[in-house]
Amino acid sequence: MNPLVPEAIADYIPNVIQLTYLLASVLFILGLKRLSSPATARSGNMLASLGMFIGVLVTLFDRNIVSFQFIVAGVAIGAVIGAILARKVKMTSMPELVSLFNGFGGAASALVASGEYFRLASEPFGEHELGAMVVSLFIGALTFTGSMIAFGKLKGILGGSPVVYPGYKIVNTALMILVLVFAVLFVLDAENRIFFLVISGLALLIGILMVLPIGGADMPVVISLLNSLTGLAASAAGFVLNNNLLIISGTLVGSAGLILTMIMCKAMNRPLTNVLFGAFGSEAAGPGGTAADAGKTVKEVTAEDLSVMTAYAQRVVIVPGYGLAVAQAQHVIREVADMLESKGVDVRYGIHPVAGRMPGHMNVLLAEANVPYPQLYDMDEINQEFKKTDVVLVIGANDVVNPDARNDPSSPIYGMPILNVDEAKSVVIFKRSMNPGFAGIENQLFFGENSYMFFGDAKESLGSLLQSLKEL
Ligand code: TAP
Repeated sequence: MNPLVPEAIADYIPNVIQLTYLLASVLFILGLKRLSSPATARSGNMLASLGMFIGVLVTLFDRNIVSFQFIVAGVAIGAVIGAILARKVKMTSMPELVSLFNGFGGAASALVASGEYFRLASEPFGEHELGAMVVSLFIGALTFTGSMIAFGKLKGILGGSPVVYPGYKIVNTALMILVLVFAVLFVLDAENRIFFLVISGLALLIGILMVLPIGGADMPVVISLLNSLTGLAASAAGFVLNNNLLIISGTLVGSAGLILTMIMCKAMNRPLTNVLFGAFGSEAAGPGGTAADAGKTVKEVTAEDLSVMTAYAQRVVIVPGYGLAVAQAQHVIREVADMLESKGVDVRYGIHPVAGRMPGHMNVLLAEANVPYPQLYDMDEINQEFKKTDVVLVIGANDVVNPDARNDPSSPIYGMPILNVDEAKSVVIFKRSMNPGFAGIENQLFFGENSYMFFGDAKESLGSLLQSLKEL
């Protein structure tokens, strides 16, 4: 019995808890719905956070609470770490942070399963309870180590490229089969702790071996998948604890993460199996690489010339990519856009779904600079407009505008939907060098008849363009 609750109302508590869980779940769903548009995302975040706050608060009235001291200490420490991380993290390091959160989420589910197993060791378990325990333990533990490897790769501690060895697919498959065997043994003889411990060890190992062969460019997809797995693990932990809120919220995270994973795979034109087992980037890029382009030349443009080109254009489309995030050029690009608009130019932004390094990366950056939402166009919308566009400014984007994806069947990114910027009258590419983008392949766009390079850090280059526009 919870000491905080008077006896007279204790009988009603379970029903009130369930009703409040329902309310929290509705808030999660409404929050997710609102997160689908930049205009409503902020309020969606608030709604979902409110749902979580209510959920946590009500759970504290649960009769199984043993010690409030630990909970208060945990909440306080977690809140301080979370607030500091959220304020300090750079936009470009967001995938690492998400990866850490996924890892801790997975670890929490695995610990819940372990806690319940050892706490109730003397009581007989139902089969479905044992099944949920194994799922929560297995997925939670593999998500933990997998996410830690992903974090290490993104942070550069482990090196970003895929780590493969002969027969790694066979080893991974064999380990999965072994886990299945031990899971069955565990359900048949739950009192034998060895089975539980072996499953834990195998899950931790599988997490490491599953993520090691995956390369840098595919990490965001893997992180989204790990996020989805965290949800599944939490949902399974909900079945272990018999907690409806955990079941619902875990399922929401699981399905949202999976949908996001599939969207990313579609935008890169790669099946998920290819991301997980393809070790993309472990071999040198084929034709379309630098050697094939030896002897080709590019044209450069100066800030002065570009200011004239853009100021007298009817329509300018801005295509941001990862380099915009690196250069932190979102504010200056907005100033350039405002300046052009004040001169009567129609300015739009074309956003590729996998531009940058995380889903919605460009939208978040541009929202930070208060770029008006109506100026943002999705890939399908803006692709119909390029033929009617005078100048496209490609700011630190590379793979997402590479026409090889359309024209060269031997290219590793062949089939990936791209922004058809080469259809515009002129294309100006802002980047520091001729280095390739994330996929590691050369871009024929740079050598196009209507293409001009503006070399330099995007923030500085845009700064000089802005200055020239002011002086015009
Ligand atoms: P990338 O192809 O990675 O190209 C970024 C370009 O920015 C580089 O060519 C780089 O050239 C330039 N750059 C870097 N720092 C710069 C700076 N300070 N100033 C100016 N330019 C700078 O980027 P993208 O076109 O956005 O494509 C994203 C890639 O990530 C795709 O391959 C995509 O498949 C992959 N990916 C994305 C996601 C998500 S969810 N976004 C998920 C999985 C994979 P220099 O070094 O010459 O400057």
